Amino acid sequence: ITVYVPRDASALSLGADAVAKAIGAEAASRNLDVRIVRNGSRGLYWLEPMVEVETSAGRVAYGPVQPTDVMGLFDAHFLHGGEDVLKLGLTEDISWLKSQQRLTFARMGIIDPRSLDDYLAHDGYRGLAAALKMEPAAIVQAVTDSGLRGRGGAAFPAGIKWKTCLDAAADQKYIVCNADEGDSGTFSDRMIMEGDPFVLIEGMSIAGLAVGATHGYIYLRIEYPHAQRALEAAIEAAKARGYLGDNICGSGKAFHLEVRMAAGAYICGEETSLLESLEGKRGQVRFKPPLPAIQGLFGKPTVINNVITLATVPIILDRGAAFYRDYGMGRSRGTLPLQLAGNVKRTGLVERAFGVTLRELIEEYGGGTASGRPVRAVQVGGPLGAYIPASQLDTPIDYEAFAAIGGMVGHGGVVVFDDTVDMAAQARFAMEFCAIESCGKCTPCRIGSTRGVEVIDRIIAGDMAERARNEVLLRDLCQTMVAGSLCALGGMAPFPVLSALDHFHEDFDRSAPSLL
Ligand code: NAI
Ligand code: SF4
Repeated sequence: ITVYVPRDASALSLGADAVAKAIGAEAASRNLDVRIVRNGSRGLYWLEPMVEVETSAGRVAYGPVQPTDVMGLFDAHFLHGGEDVLKLGLTEDISWLKSQQRLTFARMGIIDPRSLDDYLAHDGYRGLAAALKMEPAAIVQAVTDSGLRGRGGAAFPAGIKWKTCLDAAADQKYIVCNADEGDSGTFSDRMIMEGDPFVLIEGMSIAGLAVGATHGYIYLRIEYPHAQRALEAAIEAAKARGYLGDNICGSGKAFHLEVRMAAGAYICGEETSLLESLEGKRGQVRFKPPLPAIQGLFGKPTVINNVITLATVPIILDRGAAFYRDYGMGRSRGTLPLQLAGNVKRTGLVERAFGVTLRELIEEYGGGTASGRPVRAVQVGGPLGAYIPASQLDTPIDYEAFAAIGGMVGHGGVVVFDDTVDMAAQARFAMEFCAIESCGKCTPCRIGSTRGVEVIDRIIAGDMAERARNEVLLRDLCQTMVAGSLCALGGMAPFPVLSALDHFHEDFDRSAPSLL
């Protein structure tokens, strides 16, 4: 009998290791032959550790399971899908999962991330097999036709980036995976690397074939040790079976892959800082142009894509560009793995086609706020994303629709706040975050963010005589940062500040003595 207990870092933080141990010990004491597979998380984090049992009807889920529940589960014959208060039913029938459109996350929680055979048995490496039969330009065209845009946040068309690199003549090219997932409330990259690492390796190999790169690096967030172990084990397995190396799948084409641990700075997720760091230097932003696709790592043409972008490539090559393109709305094609966090009852991973609204996400998946109080603001797209007021919750998740309301979809992190949030404090936090994380290369960000914190402090202190002047000063400073910063950190940190001022103006006045 096979039992699945996630090894995902979030499940581990909730006691999954102790649960796995308890199941093993209980099975041994009852002389039962139980095989425990440590899978990735299905992404229903409020139910972790979620244990699944393979039955003739399909997998049956139980959760959240604590070690003290294990004896009772055995007594209730959970190994045969027996009834118990923790029973959630057939995993596939859980509505949170059933209503999703999992393409990039198709195998998440289903396979054993350490088993290449399991990956192969679940359509793994079919995309690479297709790519090996194609000319590089045809692979690039398929990615372009699919409409896939960069999932790291900037939403630049992946196919156009690849074509720029393909067209650059050089003796050496690189594929770099940006796995320095630093946005608040985001965890989809981590889940893929821990729960389905081969799909990222396959995507990077396809990118290598497409642009003529023979070497790849995964620049991995230093705080992700579990992902590091999963990736390194998968890379070794892929090498041993000829999926990586000098002659991948007997094609005569080479692709080598290494994991590099990041430097622990938010700015190293910015692509040119990342390249500096990967080259062993201090992570400081480079001027663009030249674009990394033309002159990137060690001065060579380099494709840098986020984990989710690269992990989506295999299904596009396997099922075809049209299959992927059929999902989504407008110019936002395909699906987005959304990460639901903050003040909601049910947090976790929701992969849906573009077009799902914030309200559907928060109410249908999230079950409303955990506090039971009304939603007041939602920050989408990490710490540089605008705060969206409750009146705009019907906005569909679509790059252009979000831009139209002054927001951004970014990397798909959705953080919910109820009506107790102090938006002036949130605005201060955004500016302070920028001041702390600034790489210091350009003046608007380096000096501006510190001055910005000071001005917000003066507004919060409630000096009414200076109130109007300080707000003009803050808005002016934000405009300077947006227009004059070298990269997105200084260029976008003003968005949460300005959105807080525009939509939640009363919070800036609330602290003023005359209005208290
Ligand atoms: P960008 O718009 O400057 O560039 C996007 C990408 O397209 C880059 O890789 C760039 O090199 C490439 N590119 C642009 N024109 C090209 C061309 N003609 N040919 C080939 N490639 C081309 O945006 P940037 O500064 O790289 O990223 C900003 C975004 O990063 C923000 O929108 C934010 O959402 C996101 N972000 C994500 C974080 C995360 O943890 N995932 C953290 C912080 C920011
Ligand atoms: Fe560095 Fe900030 Fe300028 Fe970006 S905007 S280059 S982080 S100082």
